[in-house]
Amino acid sequence: MNTYRSSSVCSITDGVDVSRASAPGCSTWTYALPSRRAVDARSVVARIRECVEKSPARDALGARRAIERARARSKGPSVGARGVARDESARATTRATEKPRRECGDMCRRATLFAATRRMRALERVVDGRGRRARCPRVARRASCDAAAQRTLATGRKVSRIGIGTMAWGDETRGFGTRYRERDLAAALTRALDRGVTFVDTAEVYGAKSQRFEQSAEEIVARAIGSRAEAEAAAEAFVGTKVFTVPWTNVIMGGGARLTTKSLVSALEASVRRNGGKAYDLASIHFPFPTWTQTALADALAEATDRGLCRAVGVSNYDVGQMTEAHGLLAKRGIALATNQVKYSVLDRGAEKSGLLSAARDLDVAVVAYSPLGGGALQTSADPEIRTLNKLLEFIGAVNGGQTSAQVALNYLVCKGAIPIPSCTSVARADAIADVLEFELGVEDIETIDEKMDYIESKSSS
Ligand SMILES: NC(=O)c1ccc[n+]([C@@H]2O[C@H](COP(=O)([O-])OP(=O)(O)OC[C@H]3O[C@@H](n4cnc5c(N)ncnc54)[C@H](OP(=O)(O)O)[C@@H]3O)[C@@H](O)[C@H]2O)c1
Repeated sequence: MNTYRSSSVCSITDGVDVSRASAPGCSTWTYALPSRRAVDARSVVARIRECVEKSPARDALGARRAIERARARSKGPSVGARGVARDESARATTRATEKPRRECGDMCRRATLFAATRRMRALERVVDGRGRRARCPRVARRASCDAAAQRTLATGRKVSRIGIGTMAWGDETRGFGTRYRERDLAAALTRALDRGVTFVDTAEVYGAKSQRFEQSAEEIVARAIGSRAEAEAAAEAFVGTKVFTVPWTNVIMGGGARLTTKSLVSALEASVRRNGGKAYDLASIHFPFPTWTQTALADALAEATDRGLCRAVGVSNYDVGQMTEAHGLLAKRGIALATNQVKYSVLDRGAEKSGLLSAARDLDVAVVAYSPLGGGALQTSADPEIRTLNKLLEFIGAVNGGQTSAQVALNYLVCKGAIPIPSCTSVARADAIADVLEFELGVEDIETIDEKMDYIESKSSS
């Protein structure tokens, strides 16, 4: 039996499958808790969520009144007043959580107290003046995250710490034209930008077959951004495309075989045309196909920069050695390597284990995490270990303000310093992605997830 500890929730003793199948179509996992009481995981998550949501301390008005009362008593934010305000906040929070605490028993009490502590810290920030613009604990948390919602690339350009991926855009095999249409994607992109998610990842080959209807991913992105007010859009969106290096890409994209630097630059010119003639914020090599030398690929990126096709350059699927070499070759030309887009998720931590993450940090190259939800495997996998991991993420999400397991998985990557670019095909998904920047997992949450993955990996390798 393997035990994992999440300070945010409880200790979870894994591997005890006492009951299953309570909801139609879903299996329900059961864990032995530290109290040695077997509790149905699904119902516990539901109860935690209910308790945290029911708590009157969530009520923004109540929280604000508590602060105002404290301020009125102290007549100013002196050190003493802060103390009074803290006491008042603490009393308000304790009062507010008493009912759910009584209701929920051991497990929920711990979760509720954890959530209450977080709310109290948010109140303290407001009283201390650190969240002066904030009006309630939830907004206070968001305000405090604002500064951290963006990161600066080596080129000096600021981008959001999470982005959206457009691999499914224009692609009929991924639901385009059936599950979602161009207007849904445009609305999703608009919502993402409105909510500060500015990093948009696309590529010349995404939805390439829909080019004949001018509905490839690049074209849909260009139209959606073009429909926004010029100045607004230019300031907000950071759009990156990628050029394919397979010599026979011309079969789907037209033109000649891709064997020379010139052929890659021509492909990027075609991308810019599909972008309405506007230079991309980022142009990347999609992957280092073995027919190319590193020098030829770096030359293509340098020439694209010289011709004004892009404002920054990046690479994708480069390992540590390739990234370091590309960084050096570009540096000789006075160009900074801004990003390396690699497969990275809770389920696939290769980027961490290979040292790529730390090497990128040393070189000031931003790691962009593609397939950050394991291509959907996290939510849909039938593997019992992945399902257990998903439950753990649900637990952690429940005490971090009711986040979904997908949001926890994305926040995990943000906390590790990467920029995840999850698939986004609807306004609801855009909102879920933007919400990821409004909370921050604790160190112990991250450790718990890593412990669980270490265990899964050790089990599968033995
Ligand atoms: N550089 C490269 O070689 C490369 C390779 C692959 C991908 N990428 C980039 O990475 C992006 C994302 O990768 P991906 O599409 O493979 O994988 P992903 O984002 O890890 O997973 C996509 C799947 O997760 C589901 N999903 C998305 N958001 C969710 C949420 N909030 N809650 C629950 N489920 C959610 C999606 O369902 P729905 O369809 O229902 O939304 C979809 O089935 C691509 O769009 C592309 O831009 C780059």
